[in-house]
Amino acid sequence: MKYIRDKKELDGKIVILRLDLNVPIKNGKIVDETRINKILPIFNHLIERKSKIIVISHIGRPKGRILENLSLEIICKCLETKLQKKIKFIKENIYDLTKINLFENFVDQIIFLENIRFYKEEEENDNNFAKQLASLGDLFVNDAFSCSHRNHASVSEIAKFIPSYAGLQLETEINALRKVTIEIKKPVTCIIGGSKISTKIQVIKNLIPKFDNFIIVGGMANNILKYKGHPIGKSIQEKNCDKTISDIFKLSKNHSCSVIYPNDVVVGKTMEDNPKIKELHEVNNDEIILDIGPKTIERISNIIETSKTILWNGPAGYFENSNFARGSFEIGKKIAEKNKLNEIFSVVGGGDTWRNNK
Ligand code: 3PG
Repeated sequence: MKYIRDKKELDGKIVILRLDLNVPIKNGKIVDETRINKILPIFNHLIERKSKIIVISHIGRPKGRILENLSLEIICKCLETKLQKKIKFIKENIYDLTKINLFENFVDQIIFLENIRFYKEEEENDNNFAKQLASLGDLFVNDAFSCSHRNHASVSEIAKFIPSYAGLQLETEINALRKVTIEIKKPVTCIIGGSKISTKIQVIKNLIPKFDNFIIVGGMANNILKYKGHPIGKSIQEKNCDKTISDIFKLSKNHSCSVIYPNDVVVGKTMEDNPKIKELHEVNNDEIILDIGPKTIERISNIIETSKTILWNGPAGYFENSNFARGSFEIGKKIAEKNKLNEIFSVVGGGDTWRNNK
């Protein structure tokens, strides 16, 4: 991998900078600026080296439609304030843009394109679209770690047409991941949540042979509970995943990795209901499992206590409602405590990680 940090001669070069500025917006206001703050170093790096910058990002999932509420203009304004620098926001059709026209005004140093997902070609990883994007710059920098798993035109296909580099934030994330891959310290625990086993099965299968404990929480754990014969009422579940679950148990047995799943839960009759702690056999047909229970929290806490490395992906419950946030909160708190004491190395990831939770 080539890193932008090592690239000399950036003076006057047009850098196409892919960022993930998919930040939460409520009532026209950005409610969490973390992702914007994280990418300020790459701007400072490129500005100091006198590059010209074209910013590409997405927000939401407009699926090729132009949706006013998913415009990046508000994020462009926020970035302008943080950088104390004028940024030109471009709404014109990308196919009408040319490298020469974009920077015809000599004072422009940063250009910000409208939501790239307004073009259906983006998610189709369209070759011509990527070629057109690439034609606007001299080199491409990916500093969008959190969407680098997407096979999209401005993330993946574009790199076929133009010299491409990893940005500063991407480099930081890769270094962090090294500590949970090449330089890993044992015992290693993975906590995995979220709703769909099928979307994470490949990761699970890859990690089980390397990990000591595999803790499954969140909606995903409901499938395990059902597989083990426990009632799950109206809880979220994925169809036809028994074979996948039996593979997980077989693989973990072969590799001496313990699979841990909830031994008590918190339920409600609706997502807005008051929380009720239940033993597994007590879940009624009209109830929904919305969090892990206190015994499970304690068990997970003890496992974290004796681990040296933790990888956490996906919440333990419906944490958007504070009634059902305790499991996710306590896991996060315990990991943070151990981190402060320098006793573990931890990586937390996934789309829910940064979401604002009151
Ligand atoms: C995220 O917020 O996780 C990234 O921006 C990716 O978004 P996506 O899941 O809509 O591709």
